[in-house]
Amino acid sequence: MPHTPPIISSPDNEVVRRFRRLAARREPGLVLLEGPRVLAEARAAGLEFDVIAVREGDKLPFRAESRVTLTAGAFRAATQTVTPQGVIAIGRVHEASVSEAIGSAQGARWPLIVLDGVQDPGNVGAICRTAAAAGAPALAVLPGSADPFGPKAVRASAGNVFRLKVARVHWKDLDELAGYGAASSGGAALADTPIESAGMIVLGSEAHGLSRKDLELVTIPVAGGVESLNVAAAAALILFEIKRRRAA
Ligand SMILES: C[S@@+](CC[C@H](N)C(=O)[O-])C[C@H]1O[C@@H](n2cnc3c(N)ncnc32)[C@H](O)[C@@H]1O
Repeated sequence: MPHTPPIISSPDNEVVRRFRRLAARREPGLVLLEGPRVLAEARAAGLEFDVIAVREGDKLPFRAESRVTLTAGAFRAATQTVTPQGVIAIGRVHEASVSEAIGSAQGARWPLIVLDGVQDPGNVGAICRTAAAAGAPALAVLPGSADPFGPKAVRASAGNVFRLKVARVHWKDLDELAGYGAASSGGAALADTPIESAGMIVLGSEAHGLSRKDLELVTIPVAGGVESLNVAAAAALILFEIKRRRAA
């Protein structure tokens, strides 16, 4: 007999309420995943799912035994996001410790990528996606940064955040790492700076830049009159320059 997943129609069902709770506030170790692409990427990155919910009439991009079907009404109640593709899931993430993140970066001879108050989850997700694409193994977020495992950042990373070791850190955790802060002006030119052998590369906030003033700085020269790059664009240039130099 083929297995028929249960259909949930009540907005008060415990599964629906669990999704809603998680959308409102993330719980440690759990992450809300929205859309088939994010689910597929998360799965490819080895993430385990607690619950997968599919809107009646929609399809999962892969086979999964344990899933539930939600009616359109229950699905709407489960998620605030207006998504044309009706699949959502709760995944289990391992949030790395500081030493794991540092160890993983050092083991791969990559700088640790550090976000210093990058507030926009879209930027945080884009940086995670680029870091994974460049082959960087680990990323650390300082207080004031958006949560890399929040739904918006996960979406912006297209699920690639799960390929990285991600740790929450404070400056004191990074004492042993020498590295560079990326600054929109006043730093040594990217071409002349050995960023590939740095212990860390710090990216600053959209509004205020770096919160520490004692870092050595690296700057991507830009045309006169342009004040700065978007932080995710600056991260992409730096990360792929590291990748290029490592391959040379
Ligand atoms: C929008 S910028 C911040 C601009 C801000 N007005 C400031 O005080 O620096 C956000 C972050 O992107 C990175 N960034 C932007 N432009 C850059 C450039 N030309 N070279 C290196 N990093 C840059 C830096 O890490 C910076 O802190």
